Amino acid sequence: MEDLLKKLNQYKEEISASSATNADEVENFRIKYLGTKGLVKSVMGEMKNVPNEQKKQAGQLLNEFKQFAEAKYESLKEQFASAETQGEQIDFSLPADAITVGTRHPLSVTRNRIVSIFKRLGFAVAEGPDIEDDWHNFGAMNLPEDHPARDMQDTFYINQNPSWLLRTHTSSVQARIMETQKPPIRVICPGRVYRNETISARAHCFFHQVEGLYVDENVSFADLKQTLYFFVQEMFGKDVKVRFRPSYFPFTEPSAEMDISCLICGGIGCNVCKHTGWVEILGSGMVHPKVLENFGIDSNKYTGFAFGMGVERITQLKYRVNDLRLYSQNDIRFLQQFTGAV
Ligand code: DAH
Repeated sequence: MEDLLKKLNQYKEEISASSATNADEVENFRIKYLGTKGLVKSVMGEMKNVPNEQKKQAGQLLNEFKQFAEAKYESLKEQFASAETQGEQIDFSLPADAITVGTRHPLSVTRNRIVSIFKRLGFAVAEGPDIEDDWHNFGAMNLPEDHPARDMQDTFYINQNPSWLLRTHTSSVQARIMETQKPPIRVICPGRVYRNETISARAHCFFHQVEGLYVDENVSFADLKQTLYFFVQEMFGKDVKVRFRPSYFPFTEPSAEMDISCLICGGIGCNVCKHTGWVEILGSGMVHPKVLENFGIDSNKYTGFAFGMGVERITQLKYRVNDLRLYSQNDIRFLQQFTGAV
């Protein structure tokens, strides 16, 4: 025991005095003291010669010694590591890693552009809930229960309460606005809508719309056309041709759909325009008097126009995206193509 103690003290002094100036020397220290054939291992082996009643005390001393050697090794290693960061090994002339910046989603890019065009015309932005009740999505918009036009949009109902549903169009936000505001009203409402469709390149169970609503005295169909012409020119450029087609929506009378000349084929005919040269981009019309009256707005005094457009469709025409599924697959190769777009 006496011998062991002496030995340990001697080794400790030796260890304390050790130093290193490079990684090799640190490694030599490790091998000498802490390696499989190192000094710590060999003194540990001497435990067997210690009489039983002194084993406990010897064990403690040996452990302490081992920790002492390890601590020294760590401090040598650290010293060396800090020497490295102090410039011995780093090549400061190497080019830095490029900073990769995220890109906006193409649908956000389109939505932002639509919103900024209408903002310039004095439209405010409004939003409504994705989970709606039957009244705001259908009833208030002049689609009473059992109205056949409800079948135009396959609806997801909420199991717990069948009078709740996922909104099928952003026209529900029109209802929420007219419920709380009095004319003049001039809003656009971007948002996500849901329909029970099988997912394919051309259909999805959710997509995005931007709704517009303008109610005031003396609002006419000419105002509607002029507003939408302006929008198309700002969005797609001056050369795009526009046409209105009579249509039917329960919440507008008269109703019209607006087509623009196909940007993919320039009007010659392709898959996107189904070889007609025209692509529908929105539904619109004069707000039905019944809809105004549903919210206590005097339809003799006030008139209004409304429209609803599909953000995916506009993005498709602008960026030639031919498969709706790309928008929600999060494939970075697709998303990265929109770098710089705002
Ligand atoms: N809500 C219609 C749809 O989802 C689009 C629409 C048509 C909105 C005419 C309107 C409108 O505001 O006036 O198909």
